[in-house]
Amino acid sequence: MSTPIDFHSGMNQGVAPVTYGTGDRPPRGNYARAGADYTCAQDWAVYTDADHDTYRRLYARQLQQLPGLACDEFIAAVRQLGAPERIPRFDDISERLHRATGWQIVCVPGLIPEEAFFALLAARKFPVTDWIRKPEEFDYVVEPDVFHDLFGHVPLLFDPSFADYMQAYGAGGLKASRLDACELLARLYWYTVEFGLIDTKQGLRAYGAGILSSAGELRHSVTSPEPQRVAFDLQRLMRSRYRIDTFQATYFVIDSFRQLFDATAPDFTPVYAQVRAEIALSGEIEAGVVLPGERRFRV
Ligand SMILES: [Fe+2]
Repeated sequence: MSTPIDFHSGMNQGVAPVTYGTGDRPPRGNYARAGADYTCAQDWAVYTDADHDTYRRLYARQLQQLPGLACDEFIAAVRQLGAPERIPRFDDISERLHRATGWQIVCVPGLIPEEAFFALLAARKFPVTDWIRKPEEFDYVVEPDVFHDLFGHVPLLFDPSFADYMQAYGAGGLKASRLDACELLARLYWYTVEFGLIDTKQGLRAYGAGILSSAGELRHSVTSPEPQRVAFDLQRLMRSRYRIDTFQATYFVIDSFRQLFDATAPDFTPVYAQVRAEIALSGEIEAGVVLPGERRFRV
């Protein structure tokens, strides 16, 4: 999951891994086995029966929730993850994914620095953590584990438009690092890739990985009258703060994945300047706040 981006020191090659959230713990995972790009081989043999069982139960619980709540593209692609009874081998998924959209998944020990993360996305490689949560973390795990990364993120990489969006996001991230705009760009990731909703003919549906891999937030995000749901607007979104410790108070709703890709296609340099000017003038927008005249979606 993501952001506000917060750095820890003293990890791989002195580069601080990004952690998403504001915790002050070092990231979980064994970084000694990672290469310079933070990728490593999936240590499949190390999984125990209990690990596979945790994955199987998480998968089954989420799968039965999907109809009517997850977007069609996600539901169509989720079976591409393979046998749901055990933690998949990343290479098998990668092969299918590469045939579909030219993406691959690569194994990482856990959260990785933003530059490394962006570089992988820009090369159409999605980093997936290989460790799985402990049984006592079944309902909530602070850092993304293999279930979140695989089940939440990988199915939509089979969708051509979303796949292109993710690559564009990575390329934009490399630029944002140079423009000191990572926090603004991280908000885009948070409110789309992790917690995005999409408007469909059948009603609102979830496409964000943070929602789709969460037992409680999937139904909440789509059906609860509590949160605000506002139309996707890039500059408005980049001014918006978010919560990392509870369900989102605001969701941004897109019309299509093409809209997302088109929004990310232009150079963001002037966008960042405009957002910064707007923040200086009117401030950031707190989660749950709706602006006058804003297009809202009601359930
Ligand atoms: Fe995530």
